[in-house]
Amino acid sequence: MPMPSKIVRGIEIWAEYLPEAEQRRIVADLRSVVASAPLFSPLTPYGKPMSVKMTSAGRYGWFSDRRGYRYVAEHPSGAAWPPIPDAVIRVWNALSRCERQPDCCLINYYRRNSKMGMHRDSDEASFEYPVVSISLGDSALFRIGNLERGGKTESVWLRSGDIVILSGESRLAYHGVDRIEFGSSDLLRNGGRVNLTLRVVD
Ligand code: SIN
Ligand code: MN
Repeated sequence: MPMPSKIVRGIEIWAEYLPEAEQRRIVADLRSVVASAPLFSPLTPYGKPMSVKMTSAGRYGWFSDRRGYRYVAEHPSGAAWPPIPDAVIRVWNALSRCERQPDCCLINYYRRNSKMGMHRDSDEASFEYPVVSISLGDSALFRIGNLERGGKTESVWLRSGDIVILSGESRLAYHGVDRIEFGSSDLLRNGGRVNLTLRVVD
């Protein structure tokens, strides 16, 4: 049985899981996803644009505006979200230990100064399914908190090809990204970082 390289507060970290060729294949697939579902900056419920640009693939996409966080069946353009690329589904099938297929692949694009505040992934109908997260491109300082907001945290650097799994007890753990190390990877032509999170939504 393959094993995660590290478990921090129940969160599995599979360091260097994806070979570079597979990372490049996923990036190529994502270029077609983004061509039909362009990246956009969602507004926080306070009305401020997020520093991370986003789009989605799958039956649902994650969305936010003044009305709050939710899943929606269409890109803001009105088009259906494109399908989740097979190479991404393969990661879910290999590591999720879950019978169901993911409904959403949220694509987060971090630019030089992008960050993501501490939050939990709690917009799904059920928390019995894991969240599988794929890091591509520049390294990110990933902060892991607790099941409630606040308290002591631990940070780990996530590098291109690393996979993170939140499941069981850690499924609703607070987490966020403090910063990226811009230019630390040459996977993406213009630098930056892409993070994919796969979720079962309904
Ligand atoms: C997220 O929590 O949505 C993103 C996590 C990451 O970028 O690694
Ligand atoms: Mn999250």
